[in-house]
Amino acid sequence: MAPSKHASPFVSDIQEIRRRARQHILSGAVTDGYRADRETVVRVLNEALATEIVCTLRYRRHYFMATGIHAQSVADEFLEHANEEQQHADMIAERITQLGGEPDFNPQGLLTRSHSEYVVGTSLLSMIQEDLVAERIAIDSYAEIIRYLGDDDPTTRRIIEEILAREEEHAEDLRSLLETMGRDEPAPKLRT
Ligand SMILES: [Fe+2]
Ligand SMILES: [Fe+2]
Repeated sequence: MAPSKHASPFVSDIQEIRRRARQHILSGAVTDGYRADRETVVRVLNEALATEIVCTLRYRRHYFMATGIHAQSVADEFLEHANEEQQHADMIAERITQLGGEPDFNPQGLLTRSHSEYVVGTSLLSMIQEDLVAERIAIDSYAEIIRYLGDDDPTTRRIIEEILAREEEHAEDLRSLLETMGRDEPAPKLRT
């Protein structure tokens, strides 16, 4: 015997989901079931995008400016990080468009939107220190975004979690570089 129409609430939910999906088809990935505050999520993601762009630029500058006895291995690390920050920027920009927003690539106001600063080091050691500070800022702010999203937007949360894991690797790479180099030269004071 076929179940009555209301025998299974899950089935009727599926029908409702299908109906809404057709109704708002132009909303793309954003359905009525989207629980987060979309505008806030897009704004927060644009701040994360600015953070990644600033980090890309700073690492690229450091890659070209690295000189000294440890320069080659450190420069390789800077380049790898620069490329990964670029990938993060792309992942975030893509998610912004999925949410119906516009990724903000405007150079004007980039530093205001970014969580981390653009501080260029004057020596190889201070470059690494400034990059580590920026990574730690990114780690803190991404952890906060993940907490904010909770279960309301699991896809965005997963993307930020993936990026966070990579930033933690970056921070660890830099910490171990500092440790290696600290044996050879005294650490310059960090800008306060
Ligand atoms: Fe990144
Ligand atoms: Fe990073």
